[in-house]
Amino acid sequence: MRAKTPSESRTVMTDLVLPSETNPLNNLFGGELLARMDRAASISARRHSRRITVTASVNHVAFNRAVPLGSVVTVEAAVSRAFKTSMEIFIDVWIEDRFTGERTKANEAIYTFVAVDDTGKPTEVPPLEPETDLEKERFAAALRRKQLSLVLAGKMKPAEATELKALFTS
Ligand SMILES: CC(C)(COP(=O)(O)OP(=O)(O)OC[C@H]1O[C@@H](n2cnc3c(N)ncnc32)[C@H](O)[C@@H]1OP(=O)(O)O)[C@@H](O)C(=O)NCCC(=O)NCCS
Repeated sequence: MRAKTPSESRTVMTDLVLPSETNPLNNLFGGELLARMDRAASISARRHSRRITVTASVNHVAFNRAVPLGSVVTVEAAVSRAFKTSMEIFIDVWIEDRFTGERTKANEAIYTFVAVDDTGKPTEVPPLEPETDLEKERFAAALRRKQLSLVLAGKMKPAEATELKALFTS
């Protein structure tokens, strides 16, 4: 299978924050942002694999900044590493200043998607070839995150998590 670059799966979704999507502080409801990120990540995984893709896990979410009502929010997702049948998707969330248009990073998240066939069975995906320094950095750390996610899900024994062990012993 031909290796693909992160830019081939990059997915950018821009939308407003409406009153029905906010919490009592008039900021974007966390679950609404999770859904927007899941949609963008799903499209990204599909663009990389050209398969049906399902969310396998949400590995990390950081709600660093509240997103106020009326904000223009951009969710940007791209595959950061492809394994055999799974893909890590890195999502950056930006808000846009109403007057200057300047973008500020508000949140980020990391999701894992799995490509499946019509019966729901995991199926192989193309490898990923990172290009930029940031893409290479995210690619390098992705195996560690995969192992952590599998250990937390009870799908890998901690003793088998070589990357995690290296993190604590080096
Ligand atoms: C995701 C799913 C296809 C995985 O099936 P499975 O039987 O565990 O399959 P496997 O054990 O072969 O795992 C498939 C891949 O997913 C990865 N994976 C599974 N669970 C994972 C987790 N919690 N974190 C990270 N990766 C995970 C495996 O490491 C494997 O990756 P690889 O092939 O790239 O090495 C299956 O659990 C599923 O269909 N879940 C429901 C998905 C869904 O409906 N999502 C929407 C929620 S509403």
